Amino acid sequence: MSKPLDLNGAVTVLTGAGSGIGRATALAFAQRGASVVVSDLSEQRVTEVVERIGSLGGRVIGLPVDVTTEAELEKLRDAALERFGRIDLVMNNVGVLAIGAPETLPDEAWTRTIDVNLFSVARSNRVFLPGLIAQGSGHVINTASASGLLGYGFDRLPYVASKHAIVGMSEALATYLGPKGVGVTCLCPSGVITNILEGITAYGEVGVTPVAPAHQIVTAEDVGNLAADAVEAGRFLVVTAPEVNDSLLERASDIEAYIQASIEAQG
Ligand SMILES: NC(=O)c1ccc[n+]([C@@H]2O[C@H](COP(=O)([O-])OP(=O)(O)OC[C@H]3O[C@@H](n4cnc5c(N)ncnc54)[C@H](O)[C@@H]3O)[C@@H](O)[C@H]2O)c1
Repeated sequence: MSKPLDLNGAVTVLTGAGSGIGRATALAFAQRGASVVVSDLSEQRVTEVVERIGSLGGRVIGLPVDVTTEAELEKLRDAALERFGRIDLVMNNVGVLAIGAPETLPDEAWTRTIDVNLFSVARSNRVFLPGLIAQGSGHVINTASASGLLGYGFDRLPYVASKHAIVGMSEALATYLGPKGVGVTCLCPSGVITNILEGITAYGEVGVTPVAPAHQIVTAEDVGNLAADAVEAGRFLVVTAPEVNDSLLERASDIEAYIQASIEAQG
């Protein structure tokens, strides 16, 4: 449990906020009275979200930002400070997928996924944490996945690895930043209806599709509200399906049996 952050009046900065979970979280923040700085690779999506939040009366600016370039994250930070004078929350939300058989997936698939999903958070840490630490308050949300808690996605190993890394990094960061007054939330959604399929690069045929645990699917709006609730409660872990907690318990109590059951579920 970290220091709760009141979103009413807070200045929030989001990456990958042109679509899906990022967009819905930006809207949830605005609805709770936060100022919002929307960024995304797609300028068109940024414009749409800025117009939507603006039409609801929210304080908002937006700019195109590619999270694979540190200078663009610096531009994002500087734009937020110039317009709103401070930053209270940073949401590192971008994620892409490479799909392919584990035995053939090329380095390029690994490099791109790790660069976009994981190194983007390392870059964001360098760009945004000094300000949050200096002011002794604020919050960071890192979007991981249920795939960062449970390792079932053998057809998307770089994604699974990047999301597990984000969970571990976020937990370590929570212990570092907590005493400095900065909270951390790790968002671990199960299935969410978004445009994520657009961000998939496929490498050949996998042959076998993993059987994912039967976790409920939710809307991006549900996730946005859960993320906002977690910030305001100072909560670390957000899952979107309660079944994830059951799976985590089963896995922790007997990992051999848990993996065996996953193998048998493949049929
Ligand atoms: N949808 C799901 O089922 C699900 C489940 C678990 C976790 N997640 C995670 O949630 C996050 C958001 O995904 P989503 O489902 O909302 O997907 P989405 O595709 O709807 O939104 C992702 C946005 O990120 C942007 N983006 C892609 N590359 C970028 C880059 N280099 N720089 C800046 N922006 C970039 C895209 O333009 C897009 O607007 C991801 O980290 C994803 O892994 C999604």
